[in-house]
Amino acid sequence: MTSILGIVGHPLGHSLSVPMHMSAIFHLGIDYVYMGFDIMPGTLAHAVDHLKGEHIKGFNVTIPYKEAIVPYLDSVDEHARRIGAVNTVNSEGGRLRGYNTDGTGYLRSLKEQSGFAPSGKQVLLIGAGGAARSVAFSLLEAGTERLIIANRTMEKAVKLAENLASYFPKAGLRPLPVDRISTLPYRDISLIINATSVGMKGAQHAGIDGLLALLGGSMALFNKDTVISDIVYNPVVTPLLKTAQLAGLKIHDGTGMLVYQGAESFRIWTGIEPPVDVMRQAVLRALKEKH
Ligand SMILES: NC(=O)c1ccc[n+]([C@@H]2O[C@H](COP(=O)([O-])OP(=O)(O)OC[C@H]3O[C@@H](n4cnc5c(N)ncnc54)[C@H](OP(=O)(O)O)[C@@H]3O)[C@@H](O)[C@H]2O)c1
Repeated sequence: MTSILGIVGHPLGHSLSVPMHMSAIFHLGIDYVYMGFDIMPGTLAHAVDHLKGEHIKGFNVTIPYKEAIVPYLDSVDEHARRIGAVNTVNSEGGRLRGYNTDGTGYLRSLKEQSGFAPSGKQVLLIGAGGAARSVAFSLLEAGTERLIIANRTMEKAVKLAENLASYFPKAGLRPLPVDRISTLPYRDISLIINATSVGMKGAQHAGIDGLLALLGGSMALFNKDTVISDIVYNPVVTPLLKTAQLAGLKIHDGTGMLVYQGAESFRIWTGIEPPVDVMRQAVLRALKEKH
């Protein structure tokens, strides 16, 4: 009987996870299928009961359920428990266990694409939402020495920094209003990450120019080895990455995080080494079709 995988969220639209995982399944010739489960708000508990069905091997969780699903799971691994959010659920004979592969996927792609090792480094993380939170935990778990968290809403940056400090008391954590980032000592910063939705295609907000101007104006001050990373993956080369490229800096795009978080989930569900290149090509093809 075919084993079922999928993604739970709302609205799902054309999720890139479907072609990405299906390409891996076809490539390996295994008896699995990966499908979208668009769960209407208010029906999550009922949906989770159904997702315990015997042929369902596991599923991804996306907006808006990454935090909301936690109380309905039978167990949650330590990394996901600290983050307070789950993006991967594995069904072990109907018992659901939650994981979070967003930050670990991010770090793996950062290493593969730019050779960056976070241990002992100083990092500027822009954003304090769900994705920033996962990335922050993974960076600190990997030994980042100093993490500056810059966000438009300062209270959220403070809250995240306080929460991180309770797990990583030795790390240097500094919350900062995003409009102050141009005052930072850029020579000492090895990695700058945009973990906001600024720069995303079709995003209806006024932040793009402001954030770009703040960072773009400082790029001449950056160390030549500084990596500029954007977790937004549509477009693949965001306005921030374009500016960094023109300034001759190393860039890291958001497709790697998408692919590696998916690859980690795939490994958890199937125990099989995921065909990462096949998954990446599927994501790039699907993104091209969206244009
Ligand atoms: N590559 C991947 O695999 C991957 C995975 C997950 C997410 N993402 C992408 O990451 C982005 C953030 O996702 P999320 O889940 O963290 O969202 P979220 O929880 O809603 O957080 C959004 C973040 O963006 C900031 N922001 C939004 N509009 C802004 C503006 N105009 N100016 C300055 N800051 C602004 C918010 O600041 P405030 O706190 O001030 O509102 C907040 O820090 C999305 O574009 C998503 O597609 C990519």
